[in-house]
Amino acid sequence: MSKIIIAIDGFSSTGKSTIAKQLANALDYIYVDTGAMYRAVAYFALKRNLIGDDFFKEDELVNRLEDISIKFKFNKAVGFAEVYLNGINIEADIRTLRVSKFVSPVATLSAVRSKLVEQQQLMGKDKGIVMDGRDIGTVVFPDAELKIFMTASAETRAKRRYKELLDRGHKLSYEDVLENVTTRDHIDSTREDSPLVKAEDAIEIDNSDLTIKAQLKTIINLANQRINA
Ligand code: DC
Repeated sequence: MSKIIIAIDGFSSTGKSTIAKQLANALDYIYVDTGAMYRAVAYFALKRNLIGDDFFKEDELVNRLEDISIKFKFNKAVGFAEVYLNGINIEADIRTLRVSKFVSPVATLSAVRSKLVEQQQLMGKDKGIVMDGRDIGTVVFPDAELKIFMTASAETRAKRRYKELLDRGHKLSYEDVLENVTTRDHIDSTREDSPLVKAEDAIEIDNSDLTIKAQLKTIINLANQRINA
């Protein structure tokens, strides 16, 4: 059976990673969360005081990119690969609202993008991969056999994200989450380098009113068609 590349792109908090993880498990494929890689760089920048509420030392961050090593290691207990920055597991640290706030400006930098895109392309060289992000079907794997573009209303996405963060014990308001979601949408889709756009050949799924089970069924069917083509 041939292996394919599945690219899942879309706005923030559309549930891409939930679907991508389950899809990868069902197909016995590798799952890569590219958002986690951009978050890892933003986390590094925050830790080193290269970005903050009223400053962004872009050049310094670019100069220090070679000090950043991002790896994924599969954790059987949770069923997916967790992200490591310079050997330290930062999976939980990168999911805070603070990192979410600074990740989009960090992701506008071309030097950051080219470093991460190169690594992502290497991870997919043997195919058998499900990768989610913003530019997977357009830039990282323009020839991916299956491209999905996920959408949902900003309110639906903010509600999901708010619940997820509350469940993890974060204290924050729904308004802050909604503001973060809409600001990120704007920065991600208007940046100059690799803006978030739907690839021409991507299949759009609006999941505002779809269960995870229903989405998964649709995408697995599409994947099987491509695998057997
Ligand atoms: O998927 P996420 O919300 O964890 O992604 C975090 C940020 O990283 C998102 O606001 C934009 C950026 N990103 C990107 O620019 N390109 C990708 N392939 C993945 C994420």
